[in-house]
Amino acid sequence: MLNEKMEEALNEQINRELYSSYLYLSMAAYSSSIGLPGFAHWFKVQVKEETIHGMKIFNYVNMQGRRVRLKEIKEPPMEFGTPMEMFQKTLQHEQFITRSINDLVELALSEKDETTASFLQWYVEEQVEEEENDNEIIDKLKIVGENKDALSALDAELAKRLPPDDEE
Ligand SMILES: [Fe+2]
Ligand SMILES: [Fe+2]
Repeated sequence: MLNEKMEEALNEQINRELYSSYLYLSMAAYSSSIGLPGFAHWFKVQVKEETIHGMKIFNYVNMQGRRVRLKEIKEPPMEFGTPMEMFQKTLQHEQFITRSINDLVELALSEKDETTASFLQWYVEEQVEEEENDNEIIDKLKIVGENKDALSALDAELAKRLPPDDEE
């Protein structure tokens, strides 16, 4: 069973995951507004990923017989600059999330809550993937540079991103 400190920390993480979802939804809207529907699609898939991340913790807290507390989700920015700047902001946000997951693991271990530490391992690995995805796109954007045709080819590629599996 979770102690109160762990319960509170996991509730905070639910909020961070839902904020991530909200942030990426705003990036999807921004991408549409600058004529990049493939980028918009990529971010909409990311919105679903983040919702799943939040729901997995939601379910875990419930399963442990504790109470989920939903907090206010702060308003995300509306403007994100160039596609490169937008993906750099995405990477920075994921690095922040990685740190928050690491802090949760440390807390679980210091509270001698092995169950939660083991539950969090999925997130540790997921964050490696999240940062890798953003780094790959940043590398592609470096090659694109100022080339409009290359940007539109990347937009077409991002349009093909598949939605996450529901079982996750
Ligand atoms: Fe996440
Ligand atoms: Fe994420």
